[in-house]
Amino acid sequence: MEKIVLPEIENFHQLDVYLQNGGYEAAKSAFKQTTDQIIDTVKKSGLRGRGGAAFSAGLKWSFMPKNNDKPKYLCVNGDESEPGSFKDRQILERNPHQLIEGTIIACYAIGAKSAYIYVRGEYHKWIKLLQKALDDAYEKGFVGEKMKETFATDFMCNIYVHKGAGAYICGEESALMNSIEGQRGYPRIKPPFPAQNGLWGNPTTINNVETITNIPPIIKKGWEWFSAIGEPKHPGTILFGVSGHVNNPGVFELPSGTLLTDIIYKYAGGVIGDKKIKCVIPGGSSMPPLRGDQLEGVKMDAESLKAVGSAIGTGGVMVMDEDTDLVRVLARIAKFYYHESCGQCTPCREGTGWMLKILNRIVRGEGTKKDIDLLVTIAKNIEGNTVCALGDAAAWPVKFMIERFRVEFEAIVKDEVSLEPKNKVHSMRKTANPIAPVQV
Ligand SMILES: Cc1cc2nc3c(=O)[nH]c(=O)nc-3n(C[C@H](O)[C@H](O)[C@H](O)COP(=O)(O)O)c2cc1C
Ligand code: SF4
Repeated sequence: MEKIVLPEIENFHQLDVYLQNGGYEAAKSAFKQTTDQIIDTVKKSGLRGRGGAAFSAGLKWSFMPKNNDKPKYLCVNGDESEPGSFKDRQILERNPHQLIEGTIIACYAIGAKSAYIYVRGEYHKWIKLLQKALDDAYEKGFVGEKMKETFATDFMCNIYVHKGAGAYICGEESALMNSIEGQRGYPRIKPPFPAQNGLWGNPTTINNVETITNIPPIIKKGWEWFSAIGEPKHPGTILFGVSGHVNNPGVFELPSGTLLTDIIYKYAGGVIGDKKIKCVIPGGSSMPPLRGDQLEGVKMDAESLKAVGSAIGTGGVMVMDEDTDLVRVLARIAKFYYHESCGQCTPCREGTGWMLKILNRIVRGEGTKKDIDLLVTIAKNIEGNTVCALGDAAAWPVKFMIERFRVEFEAIVKDEVSLEPKNKVHSMRKTANPIAPVQV
């Protein structure tokens, strides 16, 4: 099977090896085409974003205003903070030049002269590797002022590697832009969308690292070639990062629509100790979990997963065996979203904390049946009522884990719990006489 974003070529990360294998040829051919032709090719290829929402890349590019003198920007999202996701760093390590080439082609298509590749702060090693590749590309004239000469074109662009500070919310596109601007990573209210009002108020496009890395092969081999790979409505390959109770965890580049069971048993080596699967989260921790007895025939692409009540997200497949305590898993996931909520809007700021508190209570064996329904009510009140999708990301695991694994929760809660108050003084306040008015 052909690899598009992670070719199995030794030392492909080195510029000379990349050039020997046709590197920067796609950019050469792109600069001979009009920007509309490039956008049209990307649209027709059917390439959908690999950052979570699976939105059409070509369509997103076409939203950038044309007759507008404002500077335009491209942000390449390598924040990769979703638990269960670790695929973009493979690109930064093994194929940085294809990412850089994709970035200059995207800049050309949308008219941007500056691109920021935003990488999460914890990725020290990968930031260094990317910066080294970028320095080499600058030196050989594939980026910056010298590219006019290299590619015999009027176009030039600069690329900057921007290091995040380790906040999950800075992966959200508008928080990412605030972060680049040096502001607090608060998501912005949309509309206006980034194509109208992005970095410093200027038109901006944001795409994931894997999305952009797909661009050079599409330009080189044509949209027909790309759209014929995998599932027609979500074509190409997808990087599946498999973790959890499998024998061979790792990142596997496979055609979209590959069976989830093949990913687990054929590529990730099956379940440790040949145990049964209880639960799989197919696209990173925020995506609705699937039951182990529902996996047969499930294809891994946006449309197929939607049809079975989940989503492709970032392709981070988390496998949990029959002995997994899903209540504890959910409490851990809830802790993450509580910690990462930026606190800007009330349902997310308060709701994530309430859900965590209740889940911890259940884990301690102090929960009641009412708590299970209360969790669902809180999740439903967060979902769709927040500035950004972190609210949904926090609500979905709770809502769907309870919907699909309710017995696990019911098994450890009680009908009623009578608790000894831990704080005696506090409990006494309930019965204390009202405080007499202060005499002045
Ligand atoms: C809380 C939150 C975190 C996100 N983190 C990332 C991330 O780490 N990487 C990423 O590419 N997209 C992330 N996204 C999605 C981005 O907002 C955006 O949709 C994406 O980068 C667009 O790229 P694509 O169209 O190529 O998928 C996140 C979204 C939310 C709501
Ligand atoms: S949903 Fe949460 S993370 Fe997003 S803006 Fe609101 S408080 Fe911040």
